[in-house]
Amino acid sequence: MNALAMIDGVGRTFGTGRQAVVALHDATGTINSEDRIALVGRSGSGKSTLIWLLAGLDSPTRGTVTWPALGHPRGDPFLVGTVFQALSLVPTLTAIENVALPLVLHDVRRDEAHDAAMSALDLVGLAGVARQLPDELSGGQSQRVAVARVLACHPRLILADEPTGRIDHDAARGVLDALWAAADEVSAGLVVASHDPLVYERFPQRWRIRDGRVSVDGAPQ
Ligand SMILES: Nc1ncnc2c1ncn2[C@@H]1O[C@H](COP(=O)(O)OP(=O)(O)OP(=O)(O)O)[C@@H](O)[C@H]1O
Ligand SMILES: [Mg+2]
Repeated sequence: MNALAMIDGVGRTFGTGRQAVVALHDATGTINSEDRIALVGRSGSGKSTLIWLLAGLDSPTRGTVTWPALGHPRGDPFLVGTVFQALSLVPTLTAIENVALPLVLHDVRRDEAHDAAMSALDLVGLAGVARQLPDELSGGQSQRVAVARVLACHPRLILADEPTGRIDHDAARGVLDALWAAADEVSAGLVVASHDPLVYERFPQRWRIRDGRVSVDGAPQ
């Protein structure tokens, strides 16, 4: 089976000289289809740094990141979908327009994009706020819109950075259910970065990060 993503001896240092911050040291691991991985660690441990590298949106300063089953997925929302910690919704677009945007930008017909966006919003329990602007949504609702935007594209690898950070327990459970169901539907790999115990209790595989050092447990390598 071809891996969705492989990291090999990956390091990421920000800045140089005395200002250098080593955010990630020598991380190695593999993400396969149907993997369900919680990336757990304290604030500042390097979770987001690793998510950006896995998404192909940042480059390592040491080692390699490859996507054997996906080619070069950088920026392709049908291959790798990322729920960013900073949600980055477009403020002038409604919830449904935000969710449909990656589809429309990739030449999906508008009516199909609209239907896919509505289904994704429904999956996260937000069909009722489809016409509202991000300003008119709560923090938790915005978070779920960002999740729906990824789910609408059915990516082969789903990366979610603190997707339950702004929401209560029940809503968090709903978001995890939606991510999990979407991953199951297309045998995707799922990686959720979080320090929420609800997340790591639920996931069969855990990558623990401490001061930029990753240890993998429970992962079939
Ligand atoms: N662009 C950057 N420039 C300089 N330092 C950075 C940059 N991005 C991250 N860092 C540093 O790298 C380290 C890891 O940051 P990262 O954002 O990956 O942590 P995190 O585990 O996601 O934290 P949180 O749980 O608070 O989101 C921190 O020391 C952070 O200050
Ligand atoms: Mg982070």
